[in-house]
This record gives sequence, C-alpha cells and structure tokens, in this order.
Amino acid sequence: MLIDGVSIWAPNVGVKRAVVDFSSPNIAKEMHVGNLRSTIIGDAISRMLEFCNVEVLRRNHVGDWGTQFGMLIEYLFEEYPQWDGSGEEHAVYKLQELYKASKKRFDEDPIFKEKAQQAVVLLQGGDERYRKAWQQICSLSRKEFDEVYKRLKVVLEEKGESFYDPYIASVIQELDSKGLVVASDGAKVIHSEGQNIPLIIVKKDGGFNYASTDLAALWYRLNVEKAEWIVYVTDVGQSLHFEMFFDAARRAGWLPKGTRDLPRTTHVGFGLVLGLDGKRFRTRSTEVVRLVDLLDEAKSRSKQGLIDRGRDNEWEADELEQAAEALGYGAVKYADLKNNRTTNYTFNFDQMLDVRGNTAVYLLYAHARICSIIRKSEKDIEELKKIGNVKLVHENERVLGLHLIRFPEIVEDALTDLLPSILCEYLYNLSEIFTKFYSTCKVVGSAEETSRLLLCEATVVIMRKCFILLGITPLYRL
Ligand code: ARG
Repeated sequence: MLIDGVSIWAPNVGVKRAVVDFSSPNIAKEMHVGNLRSTIIGDAISRMLEFCNVEVLRRNHVGDWGTQFGMLIEYLFEEYPQWDGSGEEHAVYKLQELYKASKKRFDEDPIFKEKAQQAVVLLQGGDERYRKAWQQICSLSRKEFDEVYKRLKVVLEEKGESFYDPYIASVIQELDSKGLVVASDGAKVIHSEGQNIPLIIVKKDGGFNYASTDLAALWYRLNVEKAEWIVYVTDVGQSLHFEMFFDAARRAGWLPKGTRDLPRTTHVGFGLVLGLDGKRFRTRSTEVVRLVDLLDEAKSRSKQGLIDRGRDNEWEADELEQAAEALGYGAVKYADLKNNRTTNYTFNFDQMLDVRGNTAVYLLYAHARICSIIRKSEKDIEELKKIGNVKLVHENERVLGLHLIRFPEIVEDALTDLLPSILCEYLYNLSEIFTKFYSTCKVVGSAEETSRLLLCEATVVIMRKCFILLGITPLYRL
C-alpha cells in the first residue's frame, strides 16, 4: 500500500454505475439544515463509491416544478405589472420573502389562489412569460445553493424535477398498461401491499406530483442512464414515499424481487437536526437558519482558535484561511457523519469544535502531529519506502498494523449499510490506537526507526483517505 498507493486497497462493490440523489433543495425556499445533512451524507457516500471505482452520477433533484411556482410567479406579476424579465425588479426580493408573501396571499385570497393554480398550468404548458419568470427564480435560488456547495467543496449535477416532466405521461401509461394504476376519487393511484394509503401519481386536477416525477426519474435513471444502484438521501420522514414507489417499480418489473439484486434502489434516511434546546434547529427568531451563515460561523470560530494559538504570526494569510475552512467545515461535516444517520443529532458549535472530543478538529490535529513526527525525523520517507520494511513486533505495533489493514473491509461495510458513521468510528479508533502505539514505542532515534516511521506514514495515508472520503480537507501542520 505504501508503495502502490491506497487505491489498490479499494474493495469491489460489484456495481459499475450508480446514481446518488442528494442535497435536492426546493427552489425559492431557503436551503435548510435538512438539505445540509443530505448534502454532507450524500457527498460522503458518493466519495466512498467513487473510491471503489463506481461511476457516480451525483444528482441534485431540486424541487423546481412544484405548485409553489404558480403562486410565486403570479405574485411577482402582480407586484410588478410591467415585468418582462429584462429588469432587475425581481432581485429586490429576497426569494424567501417572495415565497412567504405569496404563500400568505395564496392562503388568504381565493381569487389569487385560483390564478396561481392556472399559472402552474400556463408554466407547465410552456407559456413564454411564465417560463422566463420561472427561470429567473430558479437561477436566483441556484446562486444561493452554489454558495453552500462551494464552501463545502461538494460537486453536484442539477437535474431538477422539471427535467423529468417530458417522461411522466408515458411512464404512467406504461404502469397503467401493466395494470398497476387505479382510479380513486378522481385521482390516479397505485396501491402497495401492506400499506393502507396508496401512492397518488396523478392528482384530481390532472396534474403530476412528487411521486409521478420520482417514477419518471427512476425510469430515466434505469433506462437512459443505465444506473445499477440508485441511492436517495433524504430525511426519514420520506421513508413511506420511497417504500411505496420502489414497490410500484418492483411490481412493474423495473426492479428485481430481491432487494440486494441489481438494479437496486436504496433510501438513505436521516434524522432531524436539533438545537441545544432539543427542538428542531432554528435561530432565535424562529426563522430557519441560513446555511451559509452557519458555515461562516464555523469557519470564523476556527479562525479565532488559530489566532489564539498565535498562528496568524507564523503563517501566511492564505494558510490561515485554508486551515480555518478545513477545521470549521470539517467539524460541521464530521459532527453530522459520526452519528448513525437515522438518529437525530444536536447541532452544537462548542462540541463540534472541541480539540479534545471525537471531532474533526481533534482528528486533524492528530494527523498533523504524526506528519510532524515524520518531518522531524528528517528522513526521506520515499527512500525508506524503497529500502525499508515494516516489522510488527511490539504488541501495540501489531494492533496498529492490524487496524490499518482493516481499512478496505470498513469501507465495504460502510457502503453495504450506507453508513458513513462506520468510517468515522474507524478513523477515530485509528487515532486512539496510534496514540497508544506512540506512547509505548519510541520512533525517532530508536533501533526500529525505519519500520516505525513507515508505520507512521501508513497511518497518515489511511487517515487522509478517511478524511477525503468524508469530504474533510486534511491539514499537514496545525
Ligand atoms: N426536494 C425534496 C425535499 O426537499 C428532496 C428530493 C429528494 N429526491 C427525490 N428523488 N425525491 O424534501
């Protein structure tokens, strides 16, 4: 591994191409902490799959086609009767305010409600003026989302709900011809075995919905994109939706009966983000928290920590900035990933930025410390790799060596259950096991120096791979 690189340890998960559907915020609504969890977990899962040589289609299934656009656009046109899509009027609105104001109007004014519903029809039917407004709203939202992705260094390709609209009608027709679709109270539904509520796929008014889009998207991913594994990362609150539409796909013969056979779909559900008061995470004003602000705070707190340690005098401004980002964003990601995703987790800056607990900060320091041991030996590690050997003699050397070679099996386990927490636990244990080794086995200046330095190097290589798979930027000195 030291000579050929850690990629030779990548396990084979038996899948060539996968879709990971994650992040997927709704246009015009502020991206919330739930979308943050999906972004962080989905990115980690994508990274692990990519490490295993799976081609991953990272899909941002943004909510860009819902009924909310009717009221948004209608409200926009009412406020700006002159609106023609060329001016800047729309920008004066913060999108969320536009959303709130139009929602209020929608709930209170039946005439407006009617108009908004017609607006959806016009938009989806391709009316030029409505399309233009829709595009502008989408691109404003997109700008906000991109700020978050940029900070987190998350790569996604947007294929929003609207993308699948052209496929819906024929997909529903196919399901209908297979006898799965029944009329119910003016709507069209698919019943699932063992569920007392059906999956609604065409609404009473003839419009399509979340489920019809998801069926069309699944059809597209299976037949056009030829994905063998399709992973959906959302809160556990949507479990039933996924269960029901997976079941419909299985009965349509799109998916095999055995849930581990290919092609395969998996819903990766996660719990809520809680505030310190144990309730759903919000700021004081009961507003949803702006994600960019949250991330910026994690970074500025980390930066202050580095300044308190005098790093601003020793480092270039650039390095300080990069370290603050790696620590701050890494802390937010790790705090999320280290818990079993299905549980709720409490968002706590003090805890996630603690240098002593099971945090990214602690782990990044541990990594930097080992790098510094290697540096201080003044040995050329590349040379040692060629001429030296690793000999595991002392008990704690053996424990460390055995833990290191478990890495591929851990990645495989984490992917079997789609639980990044398994990798976090492994990483944390690695750092503990290294500490034990280092406190009992002298490295620099010992008779076993070469072997032990190589063991240090193997440790940092594996630590770095873990960081990278979790989406955390490793730091070499701190
Ligand atoms: N936009 C949805 C939400 O915010 C998530 C979409 C998840 N992906 C999917 N294919 N249903 O809850």
